[in-house]
Amino acid sequence: MWEQNDIKKVLFSEEEIIKRTKEIGEQITEDYRNNENPMLLVGLLRGSVPFLAELIKHIDLDVQYDFMDVQSYAGTESQGDIKILKDLDTSIKGFDILLVEDIVDTGKTIETVVETLLHKGAASVKIVTLLDKPSRRVANAYADYIGFEVENEFVVGYGMDFDQKYRNLPYIGVLKDECYK
Ligand code: PRP
Repeated sequence: MWEQNDIKKVLFSEEEIIKRTKEIGEQITEDYRNNENPMLLVGLLRGSVPFLAELIKHIDLDVQYDFMDVQSYAGTESQGDIKILKDLDTSIKGFDILLVEDIVDTGKTIETVVETLLHKGAASVKIVTLLDKPSRRVANAYADYIGFEVENEFVVGYGMDFDQKYRNLPYIGVLKDECYK
């Protein structure tokens, strides 16, 4: 395989990811079954795409999905400063939103996006992430549904990149140090 010299170890295989995603989808189905508001999954581009694509297959409810693309303001360390590169096409007033992430790291992205979605009139916002890296948390923001917790390692695959590479790997692996240092 083209990537095998770059990957130090596989953390989660495709089978493990699908199995865990199915469990989360079933849990979400149970939790939202009696909600009366329309439901929208919001994927943050680009990393969330493979996870969102798998997750929607396991949510047995009337659910829509849409995408946003946001970027932290370069050169600032301040919390909560993001630029919206692509906004939602859906008007979300009164919607129950599930924000879909590939990874929650410092937590700054979800903290700010949740605030933005509530400001736009969402009835509720919860967060579902494939990976959680709690050791890196800076913001006071946490996911409601978590696939797997990971150590502070450089992970790629299943949507996650280094320099736009490796997003297409069907598994999650740790990149060799020499590939990104
Ligand atoms: C990654 C990831 C999250 C964010 C998490 O996105 O997809 O959105 O960083 O980091 P935080 O918790 O420290 O805010 P990135 O900006 O790399 O874009 P991508 O999804 O296009 O890879």
